[in-house]
Parts: sequence; structure tokens; C-alpha cells
Amino acid sequence: MQIDKNVEGDGVIFMSIKDESSKAADGELQEKGKNGAPEDVIILAIESSCDETAAAVVKNGREVLSNIISSQIALHTVYGGVVPEIASRKHVEKINGCIKASLDEAKLTLDDIDVVAVTYGPGLVGALLVGVSAAKAIAFAKDKPLVGVHHIEGHISANFIENRDLEPPFACLVVSGGHSHLVVVKDYGEYEIIGQTRDDAAGEAFDKVARAIGLGYPGGPKIDRAAREGNPDAFSFPQARIPGAEYDFSFSGLKSAVLNLINQARMQGEELDQADVAASFQKAVVEVLVSHAIKACREYGYDKLAIAGGVASNTALRELMEKECEKNGIRFYRPSPVLCTDNAAMIGAAAYYEYRKGVRFSLDMNAVPNLPLGDRERRYHGRGSR
Ligand code: KG4
Ligand code: ZN
Repeated sequence: MQIDKNVEGDGVIFMSIKDESSKAADGELQEKGKNGAPEDVIILAIESSCDETAAAVVKNGREVLSNIISSQIALHTVYGGVVPEIASRKHVEKINGCIKASLDEAKLTLDDIDVVAVTYGPGLVGALLVGVSAAKAIAFAKDKPLVGVHHIEGHISANFIENRDLEPPFACLVVSGGHSHLVVVKDYGEYEIIGQTRDDAAGEAFDKVARAIGLGYPGGPKIDRAAREGNPDAFSFPQARIPGAEYDFSFSGLKSAVLNLINQARMQGEELDQADVAASFQKAVVEVLVSHAIKACREYGYDKLAIAGGVASNTALRELMEKECEKNGIRFYRPSPVLCTDNAAMIGAAAYYEYRKGVRFSLDMNAVPNLPLGDRERRYHGRGSR
């Protein structure tokens, strides 16, 4: 992955991500349907569910022709977390530029696009609406089919981009700021949730603990970095197991244990080593995520395991999962870190398989902030403009 970064005047980071495994677009598009060849499907994908405005052009679900991310992290850092109104306003400012950059980078125009895809949930409603409105406007103006994508299905599909051999069925651990799910990907677009968090998501726990130990926002990457200097055995934190629900997670007890430790130390006038707390907390989270995922693969008989979502970029999680997969004869798939966090290429990958199945959304598509995984609102399907 080659990443070109630019900090813009307002602090927003503009990134163009090039996937070397993808070929350049020039002259490579199949002539539609010529000599019975399968038609290429070029998707313009848009993502704006949280604090990243992103647009990508993806060919046949797995080849990324461009991947543009405009990240607002710096803007929200002063507030200690994402401020929804600021996120929405920045999305409005940045979305057209991202779409144009993604087309320019792919050396294509809107007329070359076959499908417009967009994340329509879950996420912040005002943020989602910006991407949804842009996608609908393009689909309407250019008379292109429209495909709505579930954000988490996008994260899972990020695994298809760099692993051209990966096909369902496989197990996937999805760990982001809002989700901690153990999922069986039975087929493209067919998911069964076999475990999930009962309270905080893994990313949320990282963010809250980072704030408590003074690392600030965004918590996950900061704990990841600090933990490298710390002793993961300095403190022993509880790893919640839920009786009768062996694949479910619970991270709020762990978070409280960290907070209690900090408060007790403060009351005794002691200063805890930030790196030791970060490393010990991270170890507790990572061990439970890995042990649940490996157990699920063994019991359900899957020999392929993928990880997805922002927390999947965590160094310790990637290392331990790789080691345990190797020990258990499981093939381990993980996207590059920049494809684990929010991006639009993953939305294009997920949309391709939906499009191939005939899914079309009509122009009354709306943002659905709490859209459940695997149980998408079918009411939009089959009534498309095309
Ligand atoms: O998938 P994502 O970018 O957005 C959501 O869909 O939520 O995930 C964001 C979450 C945040 O909680 C962030 O702290 C966490 O992923 N995260 C990490 C790392 N990078 C991002 N957590 C642990 N280690 C990391 N390196
Ligand atoms: Zn996400």
C-alpha cells in the first residue's frame, strides 16, 4: 500500500491510497460484453458514516483503481471524540472533492461508472446522509444503478481486496468503534452472527481507557503505540466470559477494572506507568478476541479466519491471531491497516457482490443509523430506478 498524505488548511488529512496489487485503469476496461467476455463492473463507492469522508473506484469487487480518504481526526481531537455536527459539516465540504479525486485517480469520468454504491448505515445519521445524498444525486443525474451497503459488511469485504483467493465460507472477527461481532460469512452478503458484545465495543473500550490514562483521542492507535513500550504482565485485568454464550464479549467490566486501578493509585498518591497499563489492558482485550475467534473456527469447522474493522489494525491482535491461527492450522486473512479503518474501497467490494445478486436500491433510500447486520432492510430492494 502506498499512501500519499496532505494536511489541508483546516487540519483535515487528505489521503490517496494506492494498492500495488491492483493494476492501472488505462486501457484495461473490458469492452462491454465483447466476445462473450464477462462485463467489467466499475463501482464508484462513497463512505461517510463517521469522521472519514471517502470515495473509491473499484473494478469487479477486488481491484481498487482509486481510494481517497479525507480524515477529520485532527478536528475532533480537541473535543476528545467525534462531534456529530462538525463531522456532518465537514463531509458536506469534502465529499465532492473526494469523489472528483477518486475519478481523476482512476482516470475515469462519471460516464464510465456502472454502479454507484454508498454506506447507508449504521453510523451517525447526519454523516451518513451526506454520502447517501451525494450517491443518490449521481445515480439520478447519470441514470446509474444505486446499491446501499451495510458499513460492517464493507469492513468484512475489505478482506477481498488484497486476498483475491478468499471466498466464503469463512469466519470473521469484526472489531470497530461500534461493533464487536464474531460472524460466519456463509456466502457473499450472507452473514450469521455467532457472538457479539453485551456492552461496549472493543474500539470503544480502547477509546475510553486511552482517555482515562491520559492518552487522549483517538484511543486505539495511541494505546497500540504506548503498549509497545510497556509490560503486558504488569497488571492482571479480568477477561469476561459469559456463561452459556461462549462467543459473546463484554468489555465494560475490563474498562471499570482499569478505571478502578487508576483511581486507587491516585488516592494513594502513586503514578502508574501509562505504557504498562496500556499494554496490560490491550493484552486482556486481544486474548479474549483471539481465543473466541479460534474456538469458533475449531467448533464450526472453519479453516479460514478474517479480521475486520478499526481494531483489526491493532499490532498485538494481528500478531497473536497470526500465531494462534498457525498453531491451529487456520488460514489467517487481514486487510492492510489502512483498509481496516474506514474507507470507501471496502464499500465498493461489498457492493459488487450485492449488485451481482441483483440488489438495486431506489432513490428513496434513506440513512439507517442503527441498521442491523445480516438483516438489512429489504424494502429498498428490487424497486430501483434501473
Ligand atoms: O472501523 P473504524 O475505523 O470505525 C468504526 O466503524 O467504528 O473503527 C474505529 C475504532 C476506534 O475505536 C479506534 O480507536 C479503533 O478502531 N482503532 C484501534 C486501532 N486503530 C483504530 N484500536 C486498537 N488498535 C489500533 N491500532
Ligand atoms: Zn468502520
